[in-house]
Amino acid sequence: MSIELTWLGHGSWTMKVGETNVLLDPFLDDNPVASCQAADLVADFILVSHGHFDHVADVAPIANRTSATVVANFETAEWFKAKHGVQNTVGMNLGGGVNLPFGRVIMTTAHHSSQLPDGSYGGNPAGFVVEAAERKVYFACDTALFSDMRLIGESGIDLAVLPIGDLFTMGPADAVLATQLIKPKRVAPAHYNTWPPIQQDAEAWANMIRAETESEPIVLQPGERIVV
Ligand code: NI
Ligand code: MN
Repeated sequence: MSIELTWLGHGSWTMKVGETNVLLDPFLDDNPVASCQAADLVADFILVSHGHFDHVADVAPIANRTSATVVANFETAEWFKAKHGVQNTVGMNLGGGVNLPFGRVIMTTAHHSSQLPDGSYGGNPAGFVVEAAERKVYFACDTALFSDMRLIGESGIDLAVLPIGDLFTMGPADAVLATQLIKPKRVAPAHYNTWPPIQQDAEAWANMIRAETESEPIVLQPGERIVV
């Protein structure tokens, strides 16, 4: 058993667990580096980390076309229902987990903000731990570095996905410190190179990971996949 992950660019990922397709933060049609368009994707579940445009932009069109279940913080889940007619939602909050047919999803702390595009209150920003196929994947999503990442790592993370873009989230150096706290088997960067203000040298970051941690860096291009 395994999880097949594809980076679609920015904070957007697909996960295939058996026959189940799970999306995270689909932001494609207005994303200059996206490897596909929203219309290309199938989904059974869509995880949403917070309310910012670059994370929610394509959620409703995909959910309404595919009947996928949107998993988000309570306020954001309600917003998709009330404002976008999304039928199937799971509203949750920080520290909570939910057992879904493909595995367990735990909503973790993120230090960030979460206003929705129309100005609505978007609840608290979050990350996710996805436990499926006897694997654990931690998506820090948009966040600053925080020392409780060490606790998240204590459950044994196979792959950590960390932002390295700087400016809106932690940058490369803090993502190395985060890796030292989490101690994942492998670590992949995200939320960078979408626009000039978050341009980063991922290979230089990967060299820091090799030099300063025990984790294996996995640098993908948009559209590339990794099996964990
Ligand atoms: Ni954000
Ligand atoms: Mn973002």
